[in-house]
Amino acid sequence: MAQLWGGRFTKETDQLAADFNQSLGFDCRLFPQDVRGSKAHVKMLAKQGILTEKERDEILAGLTEIRRDVESGALSVSGDYEDVHSFVEAELIRRIGESGKKLHTGRSRNDQVAVDMRLYVRDEIDGTRKLLLGLMETIASIMEREQETYMPGFTHLQKAQPVTAAHHFGAYFEMFKRDLEHLKSLRKRMNVCPLGSGALAGTTYPLDREYTAALLGFDSACENSMDGVSDRDYLLEYLQALCVVMMHLSRLSEELILWNSNEYRFIELDDSYATGSSIMPQKKNPDIAELIRGKTGRVYGASYSLLVTMKGLPLAYNKDMQEDKELSFDAMDTAKDCICLMDGMLQSLTFRKDVMEASAMNGFANATDAADYLVRKGVPFRDAHGIIGSLVLHCIEKNCRMDELPLSEYRQVCEAFDEDLYEAISLKSCVERRTTKGAPGAMSEAVKNAKAYLREAASKE
Ligand code: ARG
Repeated sequence: MAQLWGGRFTKETDQLAADFNQSLGFDCRLFPQDVRGSKAHVKMLAKQGILTEKERDEILAGLTEIRRDVESGALSVSGDYEDVHSFVEAELIRRIGESGKKLHTGRSRNDQVAVDMRLYVRDEIDGTRKLLLGLMETIASIMEREQETYMPGFTHLQKAQPVTAAHHFGAYFEMFKRDLEHLKSLRKRMNVCPLGSGALAGTTYPLDREYTAALLGFDSACENSMDGVSDRDYLLEYLQALCVVMMHLSRLSEELILWNSNEYRFIELDDSYATGSSIMPQKKNPDIAELIRGKTGRVYGASYSLLVTMKGLPLAYNKDMQEDKELSFDAMDTAKDCICLMDGMLQSLTFRKDVMEASAMNGFANATDAADYLVRKGVPFRDAHGIIGSLVLHCIEKNCRMDELPLSEYRQVCEAFDEDLYEAISLKSCVERRTTKGAPGAMSEAVKNAKAYLREAASKE
């Protein structure tokens, strides 16, 4: 194996040990970040007079060429190297010779991998924010379009009170808005540069760490070099943020699965986001939603795994930290796919307004409104609650809806009922009367706020 060390060794590494130790198989995806970090480092070294301008220019040209060859496919980031850092340095030396050997002056792979990973995660955060914004745009258009799509709202999965599809999706808009805000604040906090921390104790060269940090778009250089090489908190926090995103996607998936079921029939998933059965010809299964729900466990696993990896590590760098990559990369890929798929699924599904509305009418979801009607007629709420409760029981026995029960039967129980009851318990007025902030009757305001939020967020991207 071509490696960056070996002077103090008298034996080759055991083959199984070398395979076990190598990370090129998965840290190859840090290649663009590794080149970017190296370029900034070299520019700083030359500015500080540690390298000559000629050496700097040769190294920069060499790195640019390597990157170009990798991008064109002429060179593959693979081979018998310990990791991506070894690959780039060996390739540079192979191409430009002596000056290439100076690239690693005042640097360790410990601060190198720390900066690579941070750059990678920063890009990922930005990418995920864009995808979330796209999903929120889709949800906002559902909120705008479905304000008269009445449906039952549930508690304990029992019909509770009438809402609209716009209101229901408005709740998800808020969840993803919190996710976005979480990512925004995380990005700000994690934007600190570890490069220049060296192996753990800085270096004896007069590095200008703030300069390198600025070249790489960081707000500052980290305060403590031991922390610089051993901090993975930002990654843990990012994974945690993805766990919450996935939890939201999973709850939404669960609802889509229920609503798409033969029992609910509230929605129809588009054929392009469903699959069939190999044996049952009639089946159209919500596999994509089920997979999003399922993959949530996988992202939680990555987050928990890294917490456990980190919990016993003494300062500073330990090789255990190489384990921060594979599962994290997988979690990031998974979460991004799930956001995109949810977006596509929501864009293409149709609401069965008639079924949703009939369901809201059928389950006594308007019982609270009937009690509120009596309150408006002067009956104390607790008495009204009892009266309506007994009428619900009566309807269940007669197998009819509240709006089907004749006024005479209402009046037998309470004189306060009048003809205007039927209007008061219609779905339309149950919803329209709920105009307190955040309620289903106040959705036009919520839609306005959602759109303003998206406009503002998009202008800052
Ligand atoms: N592949 C290593 C990692 O991902 C790079 C850092 C190696 N440093 C070292 N001292 N062995 O963590």
